[in-house]
Formats: sequence, C-alpha cells, structure tokens
Amino acid sequence: MRKPIIAGNWKMNNTQAEAVELINALKPLVADVTKTDVVVCVPYTCIEKVKKAVRGSKIKVGAENVAWADKGAFTGEISANMLKEVGAEYVIIGHSERRQYFGETDKTVNMRTVQALKNDLKPIVCVGETLDEREGGITNKVLDTQLYGAFEGFTQDDIKKVVIAYEPVWAIGTGKTATSEQANDTIKYIRKVLAKMFTRPVANKVRIQYGGSMNPKNASELMAMSDIDGGLIGGASLKAEDFSKVVKFNG
Ligand code: 13P
Repeated sequence: MRKPIIAGNWKMNNTQAEAVELINALKPLVADVTKTDVVVCVPYTCIEKVKKAVRGSKIKVGAENVAWADKGAFTGEISANMLKEVGAEYVIIGHSERRQYFGETDKTVNMRTVQALKNDLKPIVCVGETLDEREGGITNKVLDTQLYGAFEGFTQDDIKKVVIAYEPVWAIGTGKTATSEQANDTIKYIRKVLAKMFTRPVANKVRIQYGGSMNPKNASELMAMSDIDGGLIGGASLKAEDFSKVVKFNG
C-alpha cells in the first residue's frame, strides 16, 4: 500500500510572519492525522521559521527548488546542503511554472533530482501537459519525454524515493480540475511508463500525486481513485482550514 501524501506548494506567497501564523493555525487542525504524510513546501526565506513552527506536529517541511551543484558560481541558486541546514526534508522539482518562466528543462530537472537524492532530500518531481498538448492528443508523448528525461540514469532504488506530481498545466490556478477519471487515467499511464523504465513492482511502489485546483470540495473524489496517491496543493494550501480539509480527505 502506498501511503497518501498531501503537500502544499505555497509558491511565492507568505512573509515569515504570515508563514508562522498559517502553520500555527494549521497544526491543531491536522494534529490527529497519522495515515497521511503532510508536507508544506515554502519559500526559501520561510523554511527555517516554518521548521520551528511545525515542532510538536507531524508536518514536514520542503523547499520549492534546489540547485544541481554542490556550491559555487550559481547566482540566485540554493544548494541541497543549505536547504538541509534550515530543515527542509522535501523539495519540489520541475514545477510547470519553473519550466514556463525560468527555462527549466527535463535535463535540469534530472540534474536537480539527482542532487536532491544524493543529499537525502525527498524530491517531488512535477510533470504534466499544457492545454494545447492535451487538445492536440499528445499528452502521453509529452509525459514520455518528461519522465524519460527526468529519470534518466535512475536505479530502482532511486525511483522508489521519488514522489511524482502529475499537474496538468491547464488545471493549475484556473479552477479547472481534471476529472477524477482523467487524472487517474493519466496517472495510470505514468505508472505504465515507470513499469517500462523500471519494473511493474517498482512502479507500483512510487507515489504519484495529482495537482491542479485540488480543494476541499474535490479532494475526496480524487483521492478515492485507484492510482492517485496524494495531492500537490497550490491556492488551497494558503488557507489553514482549506488545506486541513484536503489533508483530511477521508473525513
Ligand atoms: P493550484 O492548486 O492553485 O491550482 O496549484 C496547483 C499547483 O501548481 C501545485 O503545485
């Protein structure tokens, strides 16, 4: 059985003070959750404060990106070591906003994910098609390229440590959720590709989240699907009440 994992992606939101306030509100709401991993991925500047704020709870803390190199002349980048120093355990890699606005490619996603694993950070690797790609009938082809690119050179042990987030770009921040069938079918396809790349038993162990306008209203239906193991939550993770309801998708 794959343990569900609900992760918030705060994106470029929250000052340190707002971050602590949000965590303080969230903690009591999810205090009794044990069967689901709860993660908040937050801006670099909030990590240390959030790490302190989650003390006494099971909430884990993550970053939203990581450099592919150990150190050196990489202006604006943050290394895995630096993230670990302030308490990050998870890291989002290859989010569509990074691909769209900051030139992230499958190759750099691969390099960042390798670096995360080398440093015992748990990567949440994002894949997903745009609206044009879905309407053009090339969703599977796009996913093939993203998956083979992201996980090139990975061993079976490596891939088991990765969480994959399937985020159809057209469903992010738009209020348009993929139907649960659409999301489940595509995630099944992702698992089929993983089975080809690794083996079926290994593919069955990898946790795959859905992301894109997931909220308290649709979470339980999405999470009831056979292949959806969690959610990567943007907007709804910025409100303690909403995020806690997604985390408690099963009541
Ligand atoms: P929304 O939940 O705001 O659609 O964002 C999804 C997302 O991009 C999570 O990484």
